[in-house]
Amino acid sequence: MRAYYLTGNGLDGIECRTAAEPEPGPGDAIIRVGAASLNYRDLILARGPTSDRIPLSDGAGEVVALGGEVGQGIAVGDRVMACFSPVWTDGPISLKAFEGALGGRIDGMLAEYVSVSAAGLVRIPQGWTLEEAATLPCAAVTAWNALNEGAKLSPGQTVVLLGTGGVSMFGLQLAKLMRLNTVITSKSDDKLERMQALGADVTINYSTTPDWELDVLEATQGEGADLVLEVGGADTLPRSMAATRIGGEIAVIGSVSGEGSVNPRRLIARSQTLRGVWIGSRRMFEDLVRAIDGHPLRPVIDAVYSFDHVIDAYRHLESQTHVGKVVVRF
Ligand SMILES: NC(=O)c1ccc[n+]([C@@H]2O[C@H](COP(=O)([O-])OP(=O)(O)OC[C@H]3O[C@@H](n4cnc5c(N)ncnc54)[C@H](OP(=O)(O)O)[C@@H]3O)[C@@H](O)[C@H]2O)c1
Repeated sequence: MRAYYLTGNGLDGIECRTAAEPEPGPGDAIIRVGAASLNYRDLILARGPTSDRIPLSDGAGEVVALGGEVGQGIAVGDRVMACFSPVWTDGPISLKAFEGALGGRIDGMLAEYVSVSAAGLVRIPQGWTLEEAATLPCAAVTAWNALNEGAKLSPGQTVVLLGTGGVSMFGLQLAKLMRLNTVITSKSDDKLERMQALGADVTINYSTTPDWELDVLEATQGEGADLVLEVGGADTLPRSMAATRIGGEIAVIGSVSGEGSVNPRRLIARSQTLRGVWIGSRRMFEDLVRAIDGHPLRPVIDAVYSFDHVIDAYRHLESQTHVGKVVVRF
């Protein structure tokens, strides 16, 4: 089979090699992967020292073989997605879950066949293509976790999304499903026009309005938002806290602009919750699929690249010109 490998030499060092097809171990399923998608994390890992590792956490395909000891629920022929960390099925996050993430310390989904713990597979929503399904495991589950597992929001409350990348686009779409008010930022007016078409209630260009937190306060009658899906880090974390109401929550998800810092006095005075969010368990993924199954919601896919053009897909994500997800079709 063909598989891509990180070599520790940046994006241009990513190599397509011929490898032996995996054999299923006890409890494992072999998936013939039909599509995969990229996340910001994949850029970071490809630029780092990791070598001889198959990248990407996100993929979707068909189960073609099962090892022994696979419980009921998954069968040959099923169309499935693998959880970001297939060993995290339910309950709180653990070190084991963190270490079991695909495309990190273990091989990921950018191969024609992969062996994954069958307990970490989730069925694809009815009527979804493999390309669509491949967008869900990281970005969508993270947005779902941020919106549902911390602050308990009611329709009409306000959530802020930062930028128009994978996590924020699912954040916007899921927030609309939950009938929340949405504020979204972007560096691009063109992208913000598309956000209006997708139902965003308030759009702010953070390049031309660097004090965007003031606009969030204005849009919420001076109170502040109930929840921010914070993906920016250094450039945005203090502003996200200023944009959040007293007693509100900031789901700390990412740091595309660097790591950032927190003023403890401000946090205390405003009684806010900073909640670190790391993807989600299989149970959260299944909750997400239940919520979107049969619903017209579909992922925003910016571009689909063929398996032969994986490096172009990485370069496209790196350009940060995309909206939503970048997908690879096998
Ligand atoms: N904790 C978790 O479980 C988890 C899961 C997934 C992702 N993440 C993290 O979340 C972040 C986003 O991931 P992703 O895959 O959604 O990334 P992505 O698709 O590459 O999107 C990144 C987007 O962020 C926006 N952006 C860049 N600088 C910004 C700034 N200063 N202020 C506001 N927005 C800014 C840009 O949107 P515009 O062009 O519209 O401005 C850019 O397209 C990354 O740090 C990633 O590592 C964490």
